[in-house]
Amino acid sequence: MKITIIGTGYVGLVTGACLAELGNDVFCLDVDQSKIDILNNGGIPIHEPGLEEIVARNRAAGRIRFSTDIEASVTHGDVQFIAVGTPPDEDGSADLKYVLAAARNIGKYMTGFKVVVDKSTVPVGTADRVSAALREELAVRQSHADFSVVSNPEFLKEGAAVEDFMRPDRIVIGCDSSAQGDKARNMMKKLYAPFNRNHERTFWMDVRSAEFTKYAANAMLATRISFMNELANLADHVGADIEAVRHGIGSDPRIGHSFLYAGCGYGGSCFPKDVQALERTAQDYGLNLLILNAVEAVNARQKQILGNKILKRFDNKLVGKHFAIWGLAFKPNTDDMRAASSRVLLGELLRSGATVAVYDPVSMAEARRVFELDFYDAPELLDAIRYASSPMDALDQADALAIVTEWKAFRSPDFDQLKARLKQPVIFDGRNLFDPTVMNELGIEYHGIGRSVLTHK
Ligand SMILES: NC(=O)c1ccc[n+]([C@@H]2O[C@H](COP(=O)([O-])OP(=O)(O)OC[C@H]3O[C@@H](n4cnc5c(N)ncnc54)[C@H](O)[C@@H]3O)[C@@H](O)[C@H]2O)c1
Repeated sequence: MKITIIGTGYVGLVTGACLAELGNDVFCLDVDQSKIDILNNGGIPIHEPGLEEIVARNRAAGRIRFSTDIEASVTHGDVQFIAVGTPPDEDGSADLKYVLAAARNIGKYMTGFKVVVDKSTVPVGTADRVSAALREELAVRQSHADFSVVSNPEFLKEGAAVEDFMRPDRIVIGCDSSAQGDKARNMMKKLYAPFNRNHERTFWMDVRSAEFTKYAANAMLATRISFMNELANLADHVGADIEAVRHGIGSDPRIGHSFLYAGCGYGGSCFPKDVQALERTAQDYGLNLLILNAVEAVNARQKQILGNKILKRFDNKLVGKHFAIWGLAFKPNTDDMRAASSRVLLGELLRSGATVAVYDPVSMAEARRVFELDFYDAPELLDAIRYASSPMDALDQADALAIVTEWKAFRSPDFDQLKARLKQPVIFDGRNLFDPTVMNELGIEYHGIGRSVLTHK
């Protein structure tokens, strides 16, 4: 099938590459010329395991191309996927300007029937706004070209995006019940048929329910994390081990093991903004989502937990102290630092007068870019950051190590070397990577999240 992907970011590039891999003829559009240049020169603008090979293979086979040519992109695809960003607006609602601009571009140039697919995460009711934008553009040209707007939210996880796209748990598609909607449903059925060979994974529903499903999923996952973080903080007070509690409740099939890890807060491009946008949607209808308000507040507090633990341990005196941070990305296997907890910790340490050495396996370049923005008001603080060349290099002469991202490479360090390099053997583990009893045996002062009962035995 002829497919156009509008927006060649995380979601768009993965979607385009995977659909090309299945034999479709894919045109990826982006307004960012530098991104398109990187792709056309054989590079990949993001870090995503397995993606580079798929893109290279399908480019060589002529099944995927990258361009900034809007008219050509509209002409190409019978199915037009909108996969542009939906960042939070000032009031927390999803900013739809990129989605609506993409819709208008389609309306400007389309001549025949198009299925327009909202793959971006968009608030309930957006398909109607996309339809209105298309209709307005068609009216300007007095065109009678037909279309149907479909909601097909994306559930891939950064770091496992290719695997998630190729082997989805579910495919959610919302179509309307008009004749055009029926036509769109049939085309989407054909497009996704290869994913349903083993068993049917598609959930067909109305457009608004599909739009809502994406927010409900992210809100549920964020809720589980904040729930466990809140309990972890209580566990620290009452003398319980949150990891034991996690196993104890996760074994209940009604609860399950996933997304029950206590830590130093969730970040990334999705959970924070999607929770906020859902709250904002509710406010538009005069409702207040009490649970989600709390989920957000707990998370904001949790991002400060490492900084607060460090301040407490060092009697609020960080001037002249030096710390190592392992992990800057918001989670492993990505270089994405949007809303990453590392940024909050770094801010707390630097603004308290400490110096810091940071290390992340893939997001060092992104870190330099992001920290310049974070400290635009105090650029002198940038001089207090050292970019280390390895995890061990980061430790030299540090008063403590703080772990923010659970990269596999951090899980089994050489503890003898670690102790030798640190000025004193102190670890603040924001992801509970290590066993506190083992740390005690090794003579390492260990501060986990919700594990103080074991740490101070
Ligand atoms: N990143 C994720 O893990 C993930 C997962 C599921 C859903 N989503 C959702 O998917 C959407 C895209 O997210 P992302 O992380 O891929 O964003 P991104 O910022 O990585 O990519 C968006 C791209 O769209 C381009 N763009 C903007 N306006 C355009 C236009 N008019 N025409 C063509 N290109 C345009 C931008 O230049 C950018 O390259 C968001 O709504 C997000 O919430 C993201």
